[in-house]
Amino acid sequence: MQPPAARSGDQACLSCHNSPELSATLGDGSKLSLFIDTKNFYKSVHGGRDVSCTDCHVDIKGYPHPKLQARNKRDYALTAYQLCRKCHTDNYTRTLDSMHAKVLAGGNFQAPVCTDCHSAHYVTPPNKPRRRISDTCGTCHSNIYFAYVSSVHGKALLEESNVDVPVCTDCHGVHNIHDPRVAAFRAGTPEMCSKCHSDEKLMGKYKISTQVFQTYLADFHGVTVSLVKAENPNIWTYKAVCTDCHGVHDIKKVDDPTSSVVRQNLVKTCRKCHPDVIESFPAAWTSHYQPNKDRYALVYYVNLFYKIFIPVTIGGMMVFIVLDYVRSIVNRRRKV
Ligand code: HEC
Ligand code: HEC
Ligand code: HEC
Ligand code: HEC
Ligand code: HEC
Ligand code: HEC
Ligand code: HEC
Ligand code: HEC
Ligand code: HEC
Repeated sequence: MQPPAARSGDQACLSCHNSPELSATLGDGSKLSLFIDTKNFYKSVHGGRDVSCTDCHVDIKGYPHPKLQARNKRDYALTAYQLCRKCHTDNYTRTLDSMHAKVLAGGNFQAPVCTDCHSAHYVTPPNKPRRRISDTCGTCHSNIYFAYVSSVHGKALLEESNVDVPVCTDCHGVHNIHDPRVAAFRAGTPEMCSKCHSDEKLMGKYKISTQVFQTYLADFHGVTVSLVKAENPNIWTYKAVCTDCHGVHDIKKVDDPTSSVVRQNLVKTCRKCHPDVIESFPAAWTSHYQPNKDRYALVYYVNLFYKIFIPVTIGGMMVFIVLDYVRSIVNRRRKV
């Protein structure tokens, strides 16, 4: 295929920069390639949308250029990415507040800037296909990526191109990624999971129970987590949240033999926080189920008993009191 013709404004630049040999020597002696691939540039969102070389490179009018100051490639990238700010001010501002920016400001120059995730000249839609999002994060967070790939969510995304499952950014955000190891993030995990896991229509497709969130909120762990969160989200909760039982990036189907909640592994999971409990400990808990005739029948019948017993007892008492009162009035009238 013929490369598309360069736009007239770009032609002057590309007359030199279309040469694969063109390079500059940086402060530390390393070479920076100055080659721009015309074909791929015009296939990109910018090249394809009339964004020309000088729309980004506002400081370069012709040749010679302002002197190149960078000591090394990373130095150059960390200055040049500021060019994105002009048109994408919102996303730029969002990143300022992110964990990546904090890490960068702290002196870890490997933390990503716009061009690490999007490239500079060959930007294509970052979410097409959807797995591309997790792949992008995975280039640096490889251990987490491998755990994720083995999870019920990651497997569905990668092996079945399923777009219903979460990618990294559904849980962490994109440009404003915050520290996931603080109390508020931890206290927010049940809501994070239940965005999808309380959605009847979505979960219906997979025949997964949507009671998980409500039953969690009602049990001894969830009650405290939600109370503490309402009081002060910055207090660390030691009670279990979804990820303490299910895992974080390595969540498995609940009947997978390697799942942390499958029957044979469950007590080990409880023992992370209840170290001395006996083998049958998990049986004392109704899990995510509303007790019914088939599951936790005893709990169900005890509940049912109280549901009948309490109204009947209280109702009986009320009837008794009313009758007694009527009786006493009638008696008094008779005496007069
Ligand atoms: C006559 C050939 C020539 C033309 C025309 C040219 N450049 Fe360059 N460019 C170079 C060379 C050589 C360098 C290496 C650094 C230097 O000599 O300043 C370079 C470096 C660069 C750099 C990296 C260093 C820096 O200063 O940031 C950018 C970006 C750049 N050119 C963009 C452009 C743009 C945009 C245009 C069109 C307006 C353009 N160039 C036109 C030859 C050229
Ligand atoms: C969307 C904004 C944008 C557009 C459009 C753009 N550039 Fe760049 N350019 C950048 C950024 C950002 C960098 C720094 C990349 C890095 O970190 O290496 C850069 C770097 C360069 C470099 C240095 C070598 C390199 O790849 O790092 C050259 C040369 C260059 N641009 C030339 C061009 C030419 C020629 C065009 C037009 C065909 C163009 N640029 C269009 C943003 C842009
Ligand atoms: C001169 C203005 C301008 C600059 C500077 C600029 N962009 Fe863009 N960018 C655009 C336009 C226009 C679009 C297309 C908007 C749209 O599709 O709604 C776009 C779209 C995008 C998209 C969305 C792609 C998609 O289809 O979802 C990304 C990602 C992006 N730019 C990244 C960058 C990065 C990274 C830089 C810096 C290297 C940059 N932009 C610099 C104008 C600019
Ligand atoms: C850590 C990687 C990463 C960094 C750093 C990053 N982005 Fe993105 N960006 C993404 C991903 C992933 C998406 C797609 C998100 C989605 O579709 O859910 C995206 C989406 C976008 C979009 C299109 C959707 C939208 O929000 O309009 C634009 C434009 C964009 N980024 C610009 C930028 C700019 C400008 C910077 C730097 C200030 C930047 N990004 C930094 C990963 C990154
Ligand atoms: C270019 C490499 C790179 C890319 C791409 C990248 N990250 Fe990071 N990320 C880092 C570095 C470096 C740190 C700081 C790690 C540290 O301090 O140990 C970090 C930190 C984090 C943190 C804070 C926790 C921590 O370990 O400090 C989260 C959360 C995070 N990244 C999520 C993401 C997500 C989500 C994406 C994709 C949208 C992504 N990252 C893409 C390099 C990257
Ligand atoms: C279903 C939600 C979810 C998805 C999807 C997810 N994460 Fe996380 N992530 C979390 C939670 C919750 C934590 C906090 C875990 C903890 O308690 O330490 C976390 C922690 C992290 C941390 C910091 C702690 C650490 O273990 O180093 C990084 C970095 C991170 N995630 C990156 C990623 C990347 C990259 C992806 C995609 C491959 C991803 N996450 C996908 C929920 C998610
Ligand atoms: C104390 C541990 C624990 C906590 C906390 C917990 N789970 Fe579970 N979860 C389990 C166990 C055990 C099972 C397996 C139940 C069974 O098969 O009998 C399960 C099953 C599930 C299932 C599968 C349901 C089905 O229909 O197959 C989902 C989805 C789920 N949990 C999501 C969540 C979410 C979301 C949260 C937080 C709101 C959460 N879990 C909190 C232990 C826990
Ligand atoms: C973006 C939506 C989304 C989010 C957020 C999400 N999930 Fe899921 N989850 C799914 C979908 C869809 C499936 C079914 C995947 C399949 O079976 O192919 C699933 C499957 C599961 C399963 C396996 C159930 C089974 O079949 O045994 C568990 C357990 C689970 N998720 C727990 C969690 C936990 C815990 C969180 C929060 C940390 C979470 N999920 C966040 C969409 C989501
Ligand atoms: C992340 C830690 C953590 C995990 C994992 C965990 N729990 Fe708990 N659980 C707690 C804390 C903290 C309490 C409150 C203890 C207290 O008040 O003394 C609690 C309370 C309880 C209680 C109420 C009785 C009591 O001791 O107060 C039961 C029953 C219980 N957990 C069962 C389980 C079961 C069953 C599992 C495994 C499926 C499990 N827990 C996993 C932290 C956890």
